[in-house]
Amino acid sequence: MPVVKLTVNGTRYEEEVPERLLLVDFLRERLALTGTHVGCTFEGVCGACTIHLDGEAVKSCLMLAVQADGHEITTIEGLAGDTLTPLQAAFREHHSLQCGFCTPGILMNMSDFLRENPDPSEDEIRRGLVGNLCRCTGYVHIVRAVKDAARRMRGEA
Ligand code: FES
Ligand code: FES
Repeated sequence: MPVVKLTVNGTRYEEEVPERLLLVDFLRERLALTGTHVGCTFEGVCGACTIHLDGEAVKSCLMLAVQADGHEITTIEGLAGDTLTPLQAAFREHHSLQCGFCTPGILMNMSDFLRENPDPSEDEIRRGLVGNLCRCTGYVHIVRAVKDAARRMRGEA
């Protein structure tokens, strides 16, 4: 079996993995990082499995674990330190989740989105969310939180 060497949430791993093991399964089953969800039977449509690969949001159900060899991964467990990120805080304050199943993927996607789009319009946020399905919220509160987080991250009151 091939050996993958990678960093996940700041910890180095060196693991033997089957060639066909999906990255999402490696994270959930091997590393017990179950905050990365699976919502669409590995079709790449729901976004619940979104993580950061070298800082960029990717869907971990569309990658093999061996493709992460040599890369740095952040999962939802590694997103915050001792305090919530501005995006997480905004989600909490704006009641931007109900069941929460989609939330880790949305937070990973939108934190990358805000890094590249520090002052997004509502339209841009909605386009940025196109790869994340939420069955509960209707998106209004999610969009509101992303807009508010952008404002906070720009240092505006
Ligand atoms: S589980 Fe990866 S996009 Fe749905
Ligand atoms: S909060 Fe339930 S799917 Fe999004």
